[in-house]
Amino acid sequence: MQLQEISKPITIGHTRTCECSPKHINCLTAKEWMKSQIAVWEFFYEKRDIRNKNIHPAVFPISLPSKCIGLFTHQGELVVDPFVGSGSMLVAAQDLGRNAVGFDLKEDYVDFSNSRVSEGITDSAQQRAICDEAMNIPEYLDDGIVSLIVTSPPYANLLNRKRKNKSKHGNLRKDEHYLKVQQYSDDPRDLGTMDAKTYAVTLGEIFEGLLPLLKPRGNCVINITDYWWEGKRIPAHVYVIEAMQDAGYELRNTIIWDRRNIVNKVGIFGWPSNYITLTTTFEYLLHFWKPLE
Ligand SMILES: C[S@@+](CC[C@H](N)C(=O)[O-])C[C@H]1O[C@@H](n2cnc3c(N)ncnc32)[C@H](O)[C@@H]1O
Repeated sequence: MQLQEISKPITIGHTRTCECSPKHINCLTAKEWMKSQIAVWEFFYEKRDIRNKNIHPAVFPISLPSKCIGLFTHQGELVVDPFVGSGSMLVAAQDLGRNAVGFDLKEDYVDFSNSRVSEGITDSAQQRAICDEAMNIPEYLDDGIVSLIVTSPPYANLLNRKRKNKSKHGNLRKDEHYLKVQQYSDDPRDLGTMDAKTYAVTLGEIFEGLLPLLKPRGNCVINITDYWWEGKRIPAHVYVIEAMQDAGYELRNTIIWDRRNIVNKVGIFGWPSNYITLTTTFEYLLHFWKPLE
């Protein structure tokens, strides 16, 4: 496909189309709001989710951005995903009648994302993916129009090693992905090629550039996990919180994504001398907002 010619800033809707009271931060009823007060969230993959690692190696379920969009936006408002991958956030935004833009370095992912939402675009809400690096997003959007940023950036260089399948069933361990490196690209701008510290600095620079695009008290949810690297625990969520605070965001909520329903049955690790928990059993959803000036 040809590289897109895009005139900047892009034209996209960002104002409420619902009848909610101006004081409300979302269209939820009190009952729906109460359900979201629990700080441990669980999601299920559905048929539309992309589970084929040849299409994209690391997608979140559509229900994850759906929940965030429902909590932090009204119908018609604008959502941004700076690392849109296979476009799960765009699908969620389309379901909920929100405008949405996603960005990704990799053209294949952008084309795939656009193909997932192209049929459902309406006059009241548009969803699209753009091929560019996250650092350039401020060129595409006017200041103060984004209600929510929701994203799962690469988890630093976590994928940048040979995959060892952890299933306790020997026959599942050596599937087509066994010992393959599943990183997104070799592009030096790809956050998935960076060690954790460089990653945090770069992520901070990207989000500093995104801050002016958010409305006052606009929200931002980042999905991240800690991980093991060469026998050491990497507290990536701490690095991300620090980078975001340095970039001017205020941390509001730390939510645990309980992934025990997703993890395959696994073999034994570390026994009997080295206690290690399974990184894959939970991830963080870090909620920030843009403070009032
Ligand atoms: C964890 S994936 C996102 C997956 C997405 N949430 C989904 O459900 O499909 C992270 C994405 O960030 C992209 N990426 C990495 N560095 C980037 C950068 N500097 N600018 C834009 N995209 C980048 C990768 O190509 C990858 O698709």
